[in-house]
Amino acid sequence: MTESKLYIEGGRKISGEIGVHGAKNSVLPVLAATLLSGGVCVIHNCPALSDVFSSCRILRSLGCKCRREGNTVEIDSGSISDYEISEQLMREMRSSIVFLGAILGRLRRCRLSFPGGCELGPRPIDIHLSGLRRLGAKIYEDHGVLDCTLSGAVTGADITLTLPSVGATENIMLAAVLGTGETVIRNAAREPEIADLAGFLNACGADISGQGSSTVTVRGVQSLHGAEYTVMPDRIVAATYMGAAAITGGELMLKGVRPSDMYSTVSVFEQMGCGVYPYSDRIYISAKKPLQAVKTVRTMPYPGFPTDCQPIVMAVLTKAKGTSVIVENIFENRFRAAPELRRLGADIKAEGKVAVIEGVARLSGTATVATDLRAGAALVLGGLAAEGTTTVSNLHYIDRGYESIETALRSVGARIRRN
Ligand code: EPZ
Repeated sequence: MTESKLYIEGGRKISGEIGVHGAKNSVLPVLAATLLSGGVCVIHNCPALSDVFSSCRILRSLGCKCRREGNTVEIDSGSISDYEISEQLMREMRSSIVFLGAILGRLRRCRLSFPGGCELGPRPIDIHLSGLRRLGAKIYEDHGVLDCTLSGAVTGADITLTLPSVGATENIMLAAVLGTGETVIRNAAREPEIADLAGFLNACGADISGQGSSTVTVRGVQSLHGAEYTVMPDRIVAATYMGAAAITGGELMLKGVRPSDMYSTVSVFEQMGCGVYPYSDRIYISAKKPLQAVKTVRTMPYPGFPTDCQPIVMAVLTKAKGTSVIVENIFENRFRAAPELRRLGADIKAEGKVAVIEGVARLSGTATVATDLRAGAALVLGGLAAEGTTTVSNLHYIDRGYESIETALRSVGARIRRN
């Protein structure tokens, strides 16, 4: 059966309000972390994403009970029967590497296949593995399979990451929570999703401090218990819908967001000439004036401009008057939206870490192909602005990170359907 496509009739202004769902990049490590509790955890604001469904399949394969009702997931990790994740499940979702720290922390043993590279380039895990080895893990790599053991309880370590890796910070936190002694993670990632994971773990009885700063301290505890927790809103999805308003010259109220997570992203939209008005749990954006080019957008670890918003902003800048430059400092291969946006008539030259975008007066619809999650979202934005019909295929990429993107956009005036 061929996969469905999105059909977008562009040229309509986005206007209205959208409620933003829970953060994919927070709920995935939180679901893995429920393994450590050994009890019943209830996770609210859990988005209906394919990566979430994959995580629930992994939890069930390990022996947990996992039940989803609306955007609440209940996990009982009382009886875990396995420490191994099948290759098929590991291939379904690259970020399942974060289960390594959780399984190791709970069972002292974990076996899983090395997550292949992905669309963004090779996704090395050397920083994860060196951090876990500092905690005492013995890790053997053989033909793409990792076999990890912790001979005794984790007794703490002082670990400095060579770069502030989000996943490595999460894996070390997860492996260090149960045990004795104190683990200090220096040059830790500062993304809000790290603080959300720490918030969940502390709700389960962990003793973590410094989350959100470059130095996270985990004091080992004997055991954890189940907890009820609400996941933070998705700041990248919020930025995507801000982009939809910006590229169509519309306006949008985004509800259920945390503006304090989004300063660097908001600043780029303001530089484009958008009016952005943050409130406590919502953001209003209007793009009444023609968009202006942004001289330089550099992706950086948080609190810098997020790499996940880079393809989104690239799409919007294709319609901004003047020349914009984007420097992608995080991933090697993250300009994959460029060739597809060029098919819509965009003027983008991308080479190495740098992309130069000359704003054009009009984009025109055509068939496009999503190559990864955020590049796919960028094509949807391009289609909203392009005259005529744009199709976007390979929707499985987009469905990993956006809960029914067409329903959300249709609710604010887009002419978009899936079939
Ligand atoms: C997380 O990926 C996010 N995924 C990514 O979001 C996001 O782009 C990234 O953080 C950066 O913010 C999830 O949270 C599930 P990293 P992660 O480890 O943890 C290099 C999306 O679109 N590196 O911070 O894999 C790595 O190659 C996804 O939602 C090593 O060299 O990111 C990259 O260049 C895409 N060795 C840089 O660090 C390592 O051991 C940042 O990677 C680990 C990472």
